[in-house]
Amino acid sequence: MSKIDFLKTFIKDKDVASVTPTSKHCVKKVCSNIDFSKDFTLVEYGPGDGVFPKYILEKMSPNSRLILIEANEDFVEHLKETINDPRVEIHNALAGNVESVLNSEDVGKIDYVLSGIPFSFLKKDRKREVLQATKNILKDGGMFLAYQTSGHLKKPVMDVFGNYDTDFVPLNIPPYFIYKVYNNGSNGVDVI
Ligand SMILES: C[S@@+](CC[C@H](N)C(=O)[O-])C[C@H]1O[C@@H](n2cnc3c(N)ncnc32)[C@H](O)[C@@H]1O
Repeated sequence: MSKIDFLKTFIKDKDVASVTPTSKHCVKKVCSNIDFSKDFTLVEYGPGDGVFPKYILEKMSPNSRLILIEANEDFVEHLKETINDPRVEIHNALAGNVESVLNSEDVGKIDYVLSGIPFSFLKKDRKREVLQATKNILKDGGMFLAYQTSGHLKKPVMDVFGNYDTDFVPLNIPPYFIYKVYNNGSNGVDVI
C-alpha cells in the first residue's frame, strides 16, 4: 500500500492512529526481541498494511505461524491481496476478541504477541480486558511487545503482567515507546 493510501485509511478511520506505516528502523528494533532461530507462533494486533508481517515472514522458520488480527477492513483486504503464505492467517477482528479468534483455530499457547493498536484510545476497563486476554493466550515465558506513542501503558501492564521494560525509538513518525513484557505467571501488581 502506498503512503498516500495509508494516509487515506487514517483519515477515514481514527483507530488507525498513525499517518504513515512504522519505519523499517523501528520494525527492526521491535523484532530484535524475537528469537527467529526457533519455531514460534506470533499473534499481531493491528498489522495495518503489513510492514511487520513483511519483515517477520522473511526471517521466520517454515514451521512458525503468524496470526494477524486487524480491525480495519481496507487493511484486511490489502493484507489478503498481498500476503500469500501458508504460515499466515488473517482475521478481521478486534484485539479484545483474540481468545475467540484463536479458539476457532487449532493453535496452542502463543510465544509472542506484537501490538501497534492505540491502547490510549481504549477506556480503562477495555484496555485491561485486552491485556488480560493477551496474558491468557501467551505461554509461560511468552512475550508481549507493544509500540505506543507514550508511557501510558506502564501502569495497566504492571497491573496485569507485573513487569515491563521500555525502550524509546525517536526515529519514527510518531516516535514510539517499545514495551517488552513477559508472561511470567505473576498476577500483576496494583500500582497506585
Ligand atoms: C498505529 S497503526 C499500526 C499499523 C502497522 N502495524 C504499522 O506498524 O505501520 C494501528 C493499527 O491497529 C489497528 N487497530 C486499531 N484498533 C484495533 C483493535 N482494537 N483491534 C485490531 N486492530 C486495531 C488499526 O486499524 C491500524 O492498522
